[in-house]
Amino acid sequence: MRKTVIMFFALCLLTATMAQAKKTENKEQVQEKKIQSLLKKMTLEEKVGLLHANSKFYVNGVKRLGIPQLALSDGPHGVRAEMNLHDWKYAGWTNDSATCFPPGTALAASWNRQLAYQRGIVLGEEARFRQKDVLLGPGVNIIRTPLCGRNFEYLSEDPYLVGAMAVPYIQALQSKDVSASVKHYLANNQEDHRNSVDVSVSERALHEIYLPAFKAAVTEGGSHTVMAAYNKFRGDWCAENEYLDREILQKELGFKGILMTDWGAAHSTVKSALAGLDLEMGTNKKDYNEWYFAQPLIDAVKEGKVPMALIDEKVGNILRVMIQTKMLGDKTREKGKMNTPEHQQAAYQSAAEAAVLLQNEGHLLPLDFSKLKSVAVIGDNATRKHCGGGLSSEIKALYEVTPLAALQKKFGNSVKINYAKGYEKQSVFKEGTNKGQADANKVDWKLIDEAVEAAKKSEVAIIFGGLNHDFDTESFDKIDMKLPYGQETLIREVAKVNPRTIVVIIAGSPVELAGIVYRVPALLWAWYGGMEAGNAVVDVLSGKVNPSGKMPFTLPVSLEQSPAHALGNYPGRNLKVNYEEDILVGYRWFDTKKIVPQYPFGFGLSYTTFELSGLTTDQTTYGKNEVIKVKFKVRNNGPVFGAEVAQLYMSQPVCSVMRPIKELKGFEKVFLQPGETKTVELAVKVSDLAYYNEAAKGWTVEPGDFLLHLGNSSRNIVQTVKIAVK
Ligand code: BGC
Repeated sequence: MRKTVIMFFALCLLTATMAQAKKTENKEQVQEKKIQSLLKKMTLEEKVGLLHANSKFYVNGVKRLGIPQLALSDGPHGVRAEMNLHDWKYAGWTNDSATCFPPGTALAASWNRQLAYQRGIVLGEEARFRQKDVLLGPGVNIIRTPLCGRNFEYLSEDPYLVGAMAVPYIQALQSKDVSASVKHYLANNQEDHRNSVDVSVSERALHEIYLPAFKAAVTEGGSHTVMAAYNKFRGDWCAENEYLDREILQKELGFKGILMTDWGAAHSTVKSALAGLDLEMGTNKKDYNEWYFAQPLIDAVKEGKVPMALIDEKVGNILRVMIQTKMLGDKTREKGKMNTPEHQQAAYQSAAEAAVLLQNEGHLLPLDFSKLKSVAVIGDNATRKHCGGGLSSEIKALYEVTPLAALQKKFGNSVKINYAKGYEKQSVFKEGTNKGQADANKVDWKLIDEAVEAAKKSEVAIIFGGLNHDFDTESFDKIDMKLPYGQETLIREVAKVNPRTIVVIIAGSPVELAGIVYRVPALLWAWYGGMEAGNAVVDVLSGKVNPSGKMPFTLPVSLEQSPAHALGNYPGRNLKVNYEEDILVGYRWFDTKKIVPQYPFGFGLSYTTFELSGLTTDQTTYGKNEVIKVKFKVRNNGPVFGAEVAQLYMSQPVCSVMRPIKELKGFEKVFLQPGETKTVELAVKVSDLAYYNEAAKGWTVEPGDFLLHLGNSSRNIVQTVKIAVK
């Protein structure tokens, strides 16, 4: 009887799956037919008109055939304000103030896939409200060096974590009929010489480190578009790189969407066309007809250098994306909405869950403001707004709550807030050069003395320090990893007079903390928090929110500890950079080389304590096509509600090639009431334990023993189990 019931259900499932497959097949067939029929009606000029922009962010349509223009916009953590058609100035609209989320590193620090999904929904709705078709992001380049100016926009040093956050973000965004554009493909890991540097990476590092997030974005997230990076890769510009674009993206990953250039990243007509580029954006020539994919492309077709079939392939890719986002006359297309309370709540939640508590001696935090009479609030970042910085990801936020404003609003009536600036922003931002950082280290004793006075007369001192977008920005890298503006001195002096000093770091990339960790009892890393930054950070400080963020990158003690710098492979020589550290990026390097960082990857404290236990797998031996079902328990042993990020790492102690000591293979953020225990199940495919085998040009799972480690950072492993792969 039981067998019959099982068979019946299996049959039903099969029928349903087949019906679904048929439906998808039909949908795809209809789509391809529509594309073919439109192609037949188009002239060469009309086709090529779809393959290059006609202004900064728009591409012409073909009116007579009902093909609309394509509207693109930055960016990854909010919809950028409207720009002028033909220059980089803002158009001055009054209805384009947007919801601003905390940027990429903060998203990854939340380790919460649902927040990534929620962000995608909000971005999609606001992009549609602004009648945008493509929203440029997410940026999924790996954080290779602490100095990269765009680290704040990117997510992590770990390819699995980047992919895990990018996929739900893209799926949600595209569910609102807006295309994502995953960027910058590939190896745009520094801003220094980004327009000219030639990157060399081994095949193994390419496949294990730099490609996985793009692969996940395309194959799991279904990203409709990909943006080719500025730099060269193994001698060829990314936008005309046959290997990256044709071989990997199209053939290996099966990408059928639009491959566009970054703004001004096209360098040729025929070579780019043959390599697989579809859309040219941002070229610095006033006459759009002179762009590589304009008249020169028409000429190349006429001269027989680019086959017509290739033009049709490109136009087909554009039309396919238009159909997928309901642009071709589908009345059910998402209309969008802007700045709803739900959008603002999502931005708040994202900031609140991102904050990482790095240190909390004597349980100084959370602060019970009902018992406090006075607080010193110190630092330029207590009052600085950050949403409008960073260059292409800058957002005209509807509002931005600073930490000081939030403290005043929430506790100003009962607590005396003694504000002192403490340090001045001495740097000057100038696109394309980091010279503005050079003399930004002066110690301002007058400001320090004022801060010390404020700290003396207060029960607690909170210093809001870190960086700003003169450092964390597109177009140049940081010159070093130091806290600028004499902040170290300020922090030490304040701590001398007030032992209850808390430092809040607002930054999107690693900064040296060695000079302050022994001076202050409490350290909180709050990132750039978007428009709700102040509300979120104050709620964490006051304990309304229990911190649950974890570092998405290793925080080195000093720059020399991190791999690219230890090996002298940044920023390269003679415009060439070789990623000699290979697969040992981030914690893979630190843990394998046994280097103790300031704070490890995945690390973050809480106001409660958690216990991870009971790690088991469903079998002890697996075949190569099987799935490992991992189970464990997470318990909240402490007094308050909170969330722990349980992390599962893998290692293969004996293998014919070098393997990192640990590689992240799964994680789960678990929310628990005091005393509550939850059982977590994670599934890891045995095939995901593979390494990239350069000789075989493919992935190899070498039979033998594997270790699965459960922990709450890459360096705090609480349990390990051994499994065997046949
Ligand atoms: C950036 C891209 C951005 C584009 C459009 C480029 O400079 O690298 O990330 O999407 O500009 O603003």
